[in-house]
Amino acid sequence: MEFAELIKKRYSVRAYKADAVEEDKLQQVLEAARLAPTAANRQPFRIIVIHTAGREAELRRIYDRGWFAQAPLLLCACGIPAKTWSRSDGKNYNDVDVSIVMDHMVLAATDVGLGTCWVAAFNPAAARQVLGLPDGVEPIAFTPLGYSADQPRPKERKALSELVRYEKW
Ligand SMILES: Cc1cc2nc3c(=O)[nH]c(=O)nc-3n(C[C@H](O)[C@H](O)[C@H](O)COP(=O)(O)O)c2cc1C
Repeated sequence: MEFAELIKKRYSVRAYKADAVEEDKLQQVLEAARLAPTAANRQPFRIIVIHTAGREAELRRIYDRGWFAQAPLLLCACGIPAKTWSRSDGKNYNDVDVSIVMDHMVLAATDVGLGTCWVAAFNPAAARQVLGLPDGVEPIAFTPLGYSADQPRPKERKALSELVRYEKW
């Protein structure tokens, strides 16, 4: 798919079919994560692949929406801040690194016909417990991964004139 078409096609899917995700498609999504750029190439992230079947109630402790555990798979993008590059003033870039990884996966999923939805409004304590995360590994975002059972809505976006400044604010 052309990139311009791909970024128009991606939308937040909030209803999923029960259809299985083919292993080769999952691997394409994970490979897109692996190829993501990270600051100083530290690669301070881990992706957790979660099979939802039979675990729906437990997983909804993480984010209580009917669609959260509806797809056959959930992905959790985690960061490891202590292994992340920091700027000279101390700013740690882990959220940036993990966001790029997440977006690579979301776009790769769109490219192979799968739906996703960024989820950041989850309960981090429940996520830590359900996924057994060790200290130092921070869950940043989740997405279901599966076939969409809903329809894209028109994109509501600000005009470029509001979003872009040339040369100076
Ligand atoms: C960092 C981030 C966090 C988000 N967290 C949630 C969330 O917790 N729950 C949810 O339903 N959507 C979440 N979204 C999806 C946004 O609401 C959605 O991307 C936005 O409304 C634009 O719609 P679109 O993705 O369909 O183009 C999140 C998106 C981003 C980028």
